[in-house]
Amino acid sequence: MATINFTINGKKASLEDVDPEMPLLWAIRDNLGLTGTKFSCGIAQCGACTIHVDGAAIRSCVYPISAAEGKEITTIEGLSENNDHPVQKAWIEAQVPQCGYCQTGQIMAAAALLKENPNPSDEEIEATMGSVLCRCGTYPRIKKAMSQLVKK
Ligand code: FES
Ligand code: FES
Repeated sequence: MATINFTINGKKASLEDVDPEMPLLWAIRDNLGLTGTKFSCGIAQCGACTIHVDGAAIRSCVYPISAAEGKEITTIEGLSENNDHPVQKAWIEAQVPQCGYCQTGQIMAAAALLKENPNPSDEEIEATMGSVLCRCGTYPRIKKAMSQLVKK
């Protein structure tokens, strides 16, 4: 067992007596009570659990908490102060969500992609967004929202 320290959504967190192999998603949802990040497949296949670690998108269901030591973590709750991150605004404008279950992952994946590359190609957008599974089929609206965000 170990004590793991990291920063999450701008605040310091210290988790004591945790299994170093425990997925970070468990800590986020169960220890810290941040339930905006979703559990679905649990094997890095669907993207529902996507968060940012030091600015990069990762799948928190397979990310051991020991790897979070000293890192800056952002979840959907910390992406913006008032749900006004450009990706969130574009998602609302394009009315992307249906059931909503996958949308945390979609938004976090999109935000990381655009931070790394403000002008991704259609292929890059499809590769990133297509890897986050949406059973409601919101991909056409995701495409529309992303087209409003990409700098021409
Ligand atoms: S729940 Fe993590 S990728 Fe599916
Ligand atoms: S909005 Fe329902 S799974 Fe994506």
